Amino acid sequence: MALSNNNSKPVSHYFLFFALILLACGVTYGTIGGLQYLIPGYLKETLSFEKTRPLHVSSVVFWIIIAAVGSMLSYLPQHTGKKIYSSMLARIQLMLMIGAALAITIGYYAGIFGGREYWEFPPLFSLPIIIGWLLLIYNYISSIGNLFKQPVYVWMWLTGVLFFLFTYLESLLWVIPYFRSHVINDMTIQWKSYGSMVGSWNMLIYGCGIFLMDKISGEKKYSYSSIAFLLYFIGLFNLMFNWGHHIYTLPTHAYVKHISYIVSMTELLLLGRIIYKWKDSVSTARKYFYYLPFRFMVAADIWIFLTLSLALAMSVPAINVFTHGTHITVAHTMGATIGINTFMLLAFVFDILGEKSYYVKQNRKSIMIGFWSANISLFIFWISLIGAGITKAIWQMKSNQEIFGEMMKNLWPYFLSFVIAGFVLATAFWIMIVPLFRKNPQSANDK
Ligand code: HEM
Repeated sequence: MALSNNNSKPVSHYFLFFALILLACGVTYGTIGGLQYLIPGYLKETLSFEKTRPLHVSSVVFWIIIAAVGSMLSYLPQHTGKKIYSSMLARIQLMLMIGAALAITIGYYAGIFGGREYWEFPPLFSLPIIIGWLLLIYNYISSIGNLFKQPVYVWMWLTGVLFFLFTYLESLLWVIPYFRSHVINDMTIQWKSYGSMVGSWNMLIYGCGIFLMDKISGEKKYSYSSIAFLLYFIGLFNLMFNWGHHIYTLPTHAYVKHISYIVSMTELLLLGRIIYKWKDSVSTARKYFYYLPFRFMVAADIWIFLTLSLALAMSVPAINVFTHGTHITVAHTMGATIGINTFMLLAFVFDILGEKSYYVKQNRKSIMIGFWSANISLFIFWISLIGAGITKAIWQMKSNQEIFGEMMKNLWPYFLSFVIAGFVLATAFWIMIVPLFRKNPQSANDK
């Protein structure tokens, strides 16, 4: 089999390489942030927690978004059988994304903030992201041509690209004084936009997931089935309306909370389906488990089950009051963005970049060690955060509370296992992704 010549890569591969660099940086910042949990004031002068947190969160969020776009742009021509409409537009978009990421990183190092939680950079840096995204929408729609008799993943990608722009703009409405001056409405919009934005990038990622599963099984039965479209509509419904658990503690209209609570509970259908299909999943997993990308998909499936269970519990208002402002929220966010998003994206990356990589084949054993270490350490990481969250929640509810410092001391064992597991997790990611960057030797290209 001829291996690829590294000089003639499609632009989508460069999206993936750039995203992987962000992942490597992101987990490194995360580890430093974790150390700062244990040693308050560590690196205070150069890289305080006020900087490492946004550096970490922005890097990993951009990893997810850029890798999702890169995977979609790689799978799109495989679906249509043609090149994407304009690789020049994709290249410009990538340049704009790189420019924005650099500006944001330099800004954080220099202590220039001015944004909101999760997007803590000055809103002006959003401009290249928005322009790049407009180019992506144009490129995607032009590449697809028409929507007649398209499989579900084409609809999911379309929904993802359109809703991401919408929710991103919504998250920036606070720059307009009218929105900023109404505090409750401002916060409601802010948290609503974050919830829906995650739903938008999930549409891109789950669309790629369905494409990959079809590719592995060699048939397109599922992506045209009515169950696939039904699940897509549940996802869309949730994307639009299930963000209510983000605002339970805000004194906003009750009907908004009631509607979103009911919508959140439709996700029980997804959970029920996972359990119902469990036996089938296990036998399918046995059949394809030798294939690296498939393994990541199986891992993500288990994490969907764990994360959805925690998310559904957190969507019950009586439990939400208890978990709000604790590390249970962080466990939920990281469980979803690592266990589901990152593992699925790694499945695509190994399918797209790894298939023809000499060094991925050569390093299969160490990549497998990375895979298992990442899964085990993530589980310990997640449980530690939940443990810390429960301890804090119990403290919050006590009428005769001990002082805050005393409670923080009780959290220390959880933080210690969180940091050790986080270090192993970060190392596992590094081990898995480094071979993807290595250029094939000439001898391998000639075979
Ligand atoms: C792909 C890998 C990772 C992803 C996608 C990820 C994602 C995130 C996200 C989204 C947050 C914000 C959570 C929130 O505010 O609710 C966060 C916070 C954080 N993450 Fe990660 N993370 C990753 C790996 C790591 C690793 C390996 C560590 C190492 C210990 C780590 C340590 C932290 C810390 C310390 C915070 C700050 C929590 C706080 O504000 O109290 N992360 N991460």
